[in-house]
Amino acid sequence: MSNQLTWLGHGTWLLSVGEHTILLDPFLDESPTAPIKAAEVEPDTILVSHGHFDHVADLVSIAQGTGALVVANFEICQWVGKQGVENTQPMNLGGKVSLPWGEVTMTLAHHSSSLPDGSYGGTAGGFLLQLAGTKIYFGCDTALFSDMERIGKVGLDWAVLPIGDLFTMGPEDSLEAINLLTPKQVLPAHYNTWPPIEQDASAWAEQVSQQTAAKPKVLEPGETVEL
Ligand code: NI
Ligand code: MN
Repeated sequence: MSNQLTWLGHGTWLLSVGEHTILLDPFLDESPTAPIKAAEVEPDTILVSHGHFDHVADLVSIAQGTGALVVANFEICQWVGKQGVENTQPMNLGGKVSLPWGEVTMTLAHHSSSLPDGSYGGTAGGFLLQLAGTKIYFGCDTALFSDMERIGKVGLDWAVLPIGDLFTMGPEDSLEAINLLTPKQVLPAHYNTWPPIEQDASAWAEQVSQQTAAKPKVLEPGETVEL
């Protein structure tokens, strides 16, 4: 099965697994770097890591427009439920769910998770996706933490890590994260959306090549990799 992953800027990703389309952390219409608008995506599953606006801004509109299954923590599922989104899969840290396209584990993230209207958004998480033949970990918004070593024990083909600094780990801590996770390949995210999280991705990639065993792959928003 061919799996493709497209960066839609910031922390937003579009994953194609066979005939399935999975959208992670929908932030499109108001994102300065998103190559497409929310009306242009047609996911059957939407994964949500936490409640911040730059991860849920287009969640309700896309879920309502497509009927996609929303996979998120319990509190975010309740929040979208109150706005008329009924197709949800609530879960929480450490939990795993089997979906038609793969297994989804909600992993620990060190971050916060309030929702845009001030509602309690539960705990921030990341996602480990086990697809046929490919294991990919999305750190989502997180600081570096030593239990990344445990997540990596599954044998990761890919890791997607934030490098923007300020609100998440920065480039330097991401090198340590890569050495704990030991993925074969790594993609950077959550940078260059706004000036406060500007980073030099090619300098980062050079450091990854020098200081870790992983192969860095830097994408432009809208670019796709074969997993
Ligand atoms: Ni956040
Ligand atoms: Mn964020």
